[in-house]
Amino acid sequence: MSDLILGIETSCDETAAAVARGGKEILSSVVHSQASLHAAHGGVVPEIAGRSHLEQILPVIEAALGEARVTLDELDGIAVTTRPGLIGSLLVGVSAAKSLAWARGLPLVGVHHIEAHVYAATMERPAEERPYPCLALVVSGGHTAIYRARSETQIELLGATLDDAAGEAFDKVAHLLGLPYPGGPAVSKLAEGGDPNALRFPRYRPEQGPPAFSFSGIKTAVLYHVRGQDARAPTPPPERIADRADVAASFEGAVVDVLVEETLRAARKERVETVLVAGGVACNRVLRREMTRRAEAAGLRAVFPSPPYCTDNAAMIAGLGFHVLRAGRVASLELDASPR
Ligand code: KG4
Ligand code: ZN
Repeated sequence: MSDLILGIETSCDETAAAVARGGKEILSSVVHSQASLHAAHGGVVPEIAGRSHLEQILPVIEAALGEARVTLDELDGIAVTTRPGLIGSLLVGVSAAKSLAWARGLPLVGVHHIEAHVYAATMERPAEERPYPCLALVVSGGHTAIYRARSETQIELLGATLDDAAGEAFDKVAHLLGLPYPGGPAVSKLAEGGDPNALRFPRYRPEQGPPAFSFSGIKTAVLYHVRGQDARAPTPPPERIADRADVAASFEGAVVDVLVEETLRAARKERVETVLVAGGVACNRVLRREMTRRAEAAGLRAVFPSPPYCTDNAAMIAGLGFHVLRAGRVASLELDASPR
């Protein structure tokens, strides 16, 4: 009972559905990315996102059930992301989940997108390596924040970015360097051929108080470096930026440095043994390497989801949904979406 869960995720620009058993065994995970629709705009356009979710939601759900070889009648529940995210996008998933739950008389649970990103790192680990209590860094295009996680369903925010999310900074710097959206993977690829010590971009580093991040200083420094001292001057074409790879590598190095140091400062303060890193930017190879290395040097262990479960997906929603359902937090058909 309460084993086989259909998860639905539409909070941003991925239409996703998945089936998971017992919160762990992923039977299918289908992700339809809208990246190509938003690429020309250098970021997600909410109206385009909502419309595309509407077109894709039913085929994506059908594909997830088909791949899992599961019919609606065999499900034990439906889990859907209710917050945070783009309201017009969230509502598409929530409406679909409610309709299916009502039509089939299935229990419905609402899932918090950030808690699901954290859960993604738990989902793939054997039960004896359950990473709680831990400190969780959630780092994506929309969020950069540190949480204290006591269990799958008990997560408390300790501090967040004061301005941009780290992924957003990657996306903006990519745009400046003439690279496509989403910028993270493109900047990272270009950075492989550059020297991370070539340029010294500023690092925001609070010495005390709750965890906090700021990426606007790094981003502005990159802007001045690329455009010269007149920040309003047009961005030069990519081929005229002589040290593009060095800019990418130095930018990536500065962001990773800030993320790692602030997470380890919080981990020391909270006296945890495990740091968990999740969200789209957790795909970043330099972040994975440096967090692992510096955490180990500090006597801590660092855990990450595998890359497909770092970025937005519905397996993490189906997985966490199992625990929410088991905790008895069944939603009514009044279930609503919220941007916050
Ligand atoms: O979690 P996600 O798919 O969506 C949000 O909830 O925001 O994260 C997407 C973000 C984008 O900003 C993308 O540029 C970034 O994650 N990202 C990366 C990498 N892969 C994706 N950033 C740096 N390095 C990467 N390899
Ligand atoms: Zn996300």
